[in-house]
Amino acid sequence: MSLFLKTAVQAAKAAGTIHQKFYGKTLNIQFKGRNSLNLVTQVDKLSEKKILSILQKQFPTHDFLGEESGLQENNSVYTWVIDPLDGTTNFAHAYPFFCVSIALLHHGQPIAAVIYDALRDECFTAEKGKGAFLNGKRIHVSKISQLGKSLLCTGFAYMVRETNYNLDNFAKFVLTSQGVRRDGSAAMNLAYVAAGRLDGFWERGIQAWDMAAGVLLIWEAGGKVTDMTGSPYDLFAQNTLATNGKLHSVLFKILSKGSDEKNWLKRYGKKK
Ligand code: IPD
Ligand code: CA
Ligand code: CA
Repeated sequence: MSLFLKTAVQAAKAAGTIHQKFYGKTLNIQFKGRNSLNLVTQVDKLSEKKILSILQKQFPTHDFLGEESGLQENNSVYTWVIDPLDGTTNFAHAYPFFCVSIALLHHGQPIAAVIYDALRDECFTAEKGKGAFLNGKRIHVSKISQLGKSLLCTGFAYMVRETNYNLDNFAKFVLTSQGVRRDGSAAMNLAYVAAGRLDGFWERGIQAWDMAAGVLLIWEAGGKVTDMTGSPYDLFAQNTLATNGKLHSVLFKILSKGSDEKNWLKRYGKKK
């Protein structure tokens, strides 16, 4: 394991200790901007502070992009992308599905990744060209190739009430796959695609810190990631389609058919 990954795992586990300490306790909940769906707690902030202190001590000249503290630039070719608590809404409700996500980019491309689930003590790691692992054991994407046999997952970005993003696609896949999950931690969902627990994941409105580590895990586990228009993966495209590879084209075809939001609204009577 490189010093990069070793330090990332150390930082992720230190944040995990904070998650465990506060899980199920009364939290100090604030809202980001005016969006009442976008929560932030002291656990997000404390975790990011801890992660940054560990990474910056070891790599003081690197750049850092943290969800809570933004970009700290040193003109480095290395950038750490950090989501200190992915699944804040779950955490705030003591729903046990959240994680830490840390990735290292080199010239903008992920080369080391860790996603850590402190409650289950599951540590997903990957390094470019060296495979993907769960607690040290090699993982691979699933072999499912039929949509009807697939277990999929998605997420709804915080602007869902303004945009209705993804309601149409959610309905399409509920009707065609074996099941669609929506469990509120995009990073963990990506790790689950890498581990073969899910066969595909998509989301519109997703951020770089939700995706950066998961993307490398999926590549190293044999899967495929593009944006939802079929263009090559772009960390800042704010939308993603990640699959075991075998299902990629079928999911892409359905997603790229365009929004049937109008029909959906007509059918289900949602008022704007
Ligand atoms: C959110 C979660 C959620 C996804 C949202 C993300 P946060 O991250 O990953 O599953 O649907 O788009 O913003 O706010 O809990 O770190
Ligand atoms: Ca997140
Ligand atoms: Ca977060």
